[in-house]
Amino acid sequence: MVDSPRYSKTLIQSIEEMGGIDYIFLTHRDDVADAHKYASRFGAKRIIHHGDKSAQPDAEIVFNEEMKLGDFTLIPTPGHTKGHSCLLYKNFLFTGDHLYGRNG
Ligand SMILES: [Fe+2]
Repeated sequence: MVDSPRYSKTLIQSIEEMGGIDYIFLTHRDDVADAHKYASRFGAKRIIHHGDKSAQPDAEIVFNEEMKLGDFTLIPTPGHTKGHSCLLYKNFLFTGDHLYGRNG
């Protein structure tokens, strides 16, 4: 899972049908929502950059620098928040709030 929605029974059922969650990558402090509940429910490990750790102080994996985790690369991109990070998987980049559009 990348970032976390609010805890929802409907979503839990869908996630169960897809096989559960191993990791929850939190791009930054704004989008942690109910990550702790999903982690507890599925035995998932939460990942967050040290700069935003205060938003998820009991996260299982805290990183400081770019790091590989299996086929994924965790890339610190501070700016929006101190610990904002992106997640690269093959040719897909989960950008969190690192990239955004403006109207007008
Ligand atoms: Fe944000």
